[in-house]
Amino acid sequence: MEKRQLLYEGKAKKVFATDDPTLLIVEYKDDATAFNGVKKGTIEGKGVINNRMSNYLMRYLERSDIPTHFVRELSERETLVKKVTIIPLEVIVRNIAAGSFSQRYGVEEGTVFSSPTVEFSYKNDALGDPLLNTDGALALDLADQVELALIRQYALRINQGLRKFWRDCGVTLVDFKLEFGRLRDGTIVLADEISPDTCRLWDTATREKLDKDRFRRDLGGVEDAYREILRRMESHDA
Ligand code: TMP
Repeated sequence: MEKRQLLYEGKAKKVFATDDPTLLIVEYKDDATAFNGVKKGTIEGKGVINNRMSNYLMRYLERSDIPTHFVRELSERETLVKKVTIIPLEVIVRNIAAGSFSQRYGVEEGTVFSSPTVEFSYKNDALGDPLLNTDGALALDLADQVELALIRQYALRINQGLRKFWRDCGVTLVDFKLEFGRLRDGTIVLADEISPDTCRLWDTATREKLDKDRFRRDLGGVEDAYREILRRMESHDA
């Protein structure tokens, strides 16, 4: 597979064309941002960890019939993925109150929900990714009714799968963000990444944060947390 021109550089990843028009190469960087790019930094080794974790979890989800963009890991930081058109929705699933949910509704972080919530945000940096309901998504023509229902169903199934996965590693899945894309034929697949950048993951025993909140909130021990969560993941099948 030949790596061709850089198509796009985001905050945490670069995307390259390949000699196959249906495939792209994603390259994970160590760069980290928070608060819509206001806070910037580097998390040494993050790109390697996020690449490995995202691929591992997408393969795991594929086994329970969640279609994803994943094709093949090419190197420590590079993965071959199916080319999709990203649907500009951030799909956030929450099991426990934290972050913007706690702030918006005045709920103490750590409050466990009786059932998970699915939230949509409009993926638009200039607007600061504002919250959006399904009617808003329809009005903006981001997806149709059937697609939005399917995305919600996938999000909840992914939550079930990932909760169980992390439970077996002694980790509590608090919340996470997903992005979906369309293949050329319109099929919706899970895209982007699943990593400590996009999930809140707490040690179940100590409640220690093992995710990007350590960077966002200046808690220290950022690299150690990423290494520890990778170790937990890799203990899953061991
Ligand atoms: P929030 O509580 O800040 O809305 O974040 C919810 C989840 O989404 C959390 O696991 C972190 C993740 N997330 C992203 O992946 N990208 C983002 O830009 C933001 C704001 C959150």
